[in-house]
Amino acid sequence: MLLDTFGRQAVDLRVSLTDRCNLRCTYCMPEQGLQWLAKPTLLTDEEIVRLVGLAVRELGIREVRFTGGEPLLRPGLVSIVAACAELEPRPELSLTTNGVGLARTAEALKAAGLDRVNVSLDTLDAETFHTLTRRQRHQDVLDGLAAAESAGLTPVKINTVLMRGVNDHEAADLLAWTLDHGYQLRFIEQMPLDAQHGWTRDGMVTAAEILERLGERFTLTPEQSAARGAAPAERWVVDGGPGTVGVIASVTRPFCRACDRTRLTADGQVRDCLFATGETDLRTALRDGADDAELAALWRAAMWGKKAGAGIDDPEFHQPERPMSAIGG
Ligand code: GTP
Ligand code: 5AD
Ligand code: SF4
Repeated sequence: MLLDTFGRQAVDLRVSLTDRCNLRCTYCMPEQGLQWLAKPTLLTDEEIVRLVGLAVRELGIREVRFTGGEPLLRPGLVSIVAACAELEPRPELSLTTNGVGLARTAEALKAAGLDRVNVSLDTLDAETFHTLTRRQRHQDVLDGLAAAESAGLTPVKINTVLMRGVNDHEAADLLAWTLDHGYQLRFIEQMPLDAQHGWTRDGMVTAAEILERLGERFTLTPEQSAARGAAPAERWVVDGGPGTVGVIASVTRPFCRACDRTRLTADGQVRDCLFATGETDLRTALRDGADDAELAALWRAAMWGKKAGAGIDDPEFHQPERPMSAIGG
């Protein structure tokens, strides 16, 4: 088991498959992209499957999420999913993607054993999408969402980061649109994880603001059955149901106390938190011939020291050196 000194157990593994991306969201990375991880440092498909396998068999991992950068850019994605779907006990398998390449991969991913997808969509307007992501791929994302729904990668969840003066006026329209299409929308507070270190608290649209804005058009009731557990989103029933909306308030209402996550980066480092400042190098150990028991022991030690929380409000808070795109959301 992956335990820490605060009594939490990590059962949810987030695996970043690449730090590269085909969009350039302004809240994530600069126009010119970043210094990408060097190829030889990237785990191979086989190395990833080996580490996921031991996490499932020996460390109690029950859910595996593939992230990026943009995970659909990883050529081996479908075969990695297929290999992970054969593991015993079979973990739940999900993917967080920008949706650009989903229209052509959704069916193959479903057939390989992927259970569901979360797709980023910050706007319904093609021009705003261009401004925000610096790429003209809005229609591709909409097509990707439809393909995911018809392939049965459900529930399809949509992640929206609101930015003041850019897309925050669209909050209610986005909710109406997602309810119409049967997708589950979650609004996300922007976190200090951008490569440019440009995050400011004032620029962030808070959960309270989002709820106030939605409240002007919809009646929101806190979801009662709320088996929220370790889920980062708080959910509200919209206009009596059945539709819901979620808010992931990592900054103003952090859910660290219930955190059940561990992370593996594309270059084989374990992170105990999105905001961790240290990492544990599994890649070197693995390539030096460590057996599963040794790798499992390293992973356990990595998680034991996990801090109580992200500490964004601590006076001595430091943004991690790795940007979000290289950590894996
Ligand atoms: P579900 O199981 O579908 O609810 O997945 P999820 O919401 O955990 O995953 P997703 O990859 O869609 O992430 C949604 C948002 O939550 C992103 O902005 C992530 O960066 C953020 N997030 C994911 N894990 C953590 C975490 O451990 N801490 C914080 N603060 N935010 C996280
Ligand atoms: N803060 C909050 N969410 C972010 N995402 C990317 N950068 C940030 C940030 N700084 C979102 C993406 C995607 C998810 C993995 O994280 O929009 O939906
Ligand atoms: Fe790519 Fe995601 Fe970063 Fe946007 S937020 S540039 S989609 S990694």
